[in-house]
Formats: sequence, C-alpha cells, structure tokens
Amino acid sequence: MPDITFITNGGKVITAPEDSNLLRMSLREKGGIPFKCGGGLCGTCKCLVEEGLENTDAVKKKEEKLLTKEEIEQGYRLACQTFLKGDVKVSWEESPKGGNAGAGQVKPKAEA
Ligand code: FES
Repeated sequence: MPDITFITNGGKVITAPEDSNLLRMSLREKGGIPFKCGGGLCGTCKCLVEEGLENTDAVKKKEEKLLTKEEIEQGYRLACQTFLKGDVKVSWEESPKGGNAGAGQVKPKAEA
C-alpha cells in the first residue's frame, strides 16, 4: 500500500489504500494539506510531489486550468484531483499571508 509523506507537516508518514485520493487521505489522517472546495476549483490544495510523481495518476483538465505548465512539469498537483498508485512525498506552501492560518506559525517579522 502506498505511503504518503507529508513533508510540510514535519515529515509525517501514513499508509493509504491503493488508488486513494491524496486530499482525502490528508484529511482522514491529518496530513495537513490545505484545501477549500475539494472539487478542483479553488487551487488551494496545490502541492508539490517531491518524490513519487510516477506513482500518481494523470494530470486532470481541472489541474491544467489552475496550474501553469511549468508547475505541472515541476510536479505540482492539486491534491483533491490526485490519486495514488505508490509512495509519494508531498510538500506545499503554508498559508501565504497569515490570514486565518492554523496554529504553529512561527514567523517573527524582522524589524526594519
Ligand atoms: S481543494 Fe479546491 S482545488 Fe483542490
């Protein structure tokens, strides 16, 4: 069964059933990938498959809309549109602008 490593979440590793959806597994196991719509519309779940891109299924049309060609070439996927056939390691950007970021953001502002 595929192992998912959530790099941005301290390297947490979970084991997922074959053909499982990346975002669904993240939700179930508290992997921490950000999301909003869960349906390939918002782009919030954008993540980088740092290892195991060959273990993911084909890039969907919705992903081609929300990701640039370059991003797709680099291995970016929308977690809610990605299904797994084998081990992957994923990272993502943590809430870029503070906003309602989750706990655990330790980014002191440098004083000018
Ligand atoms: S959660 Fe909105 S595109 Fe994946």
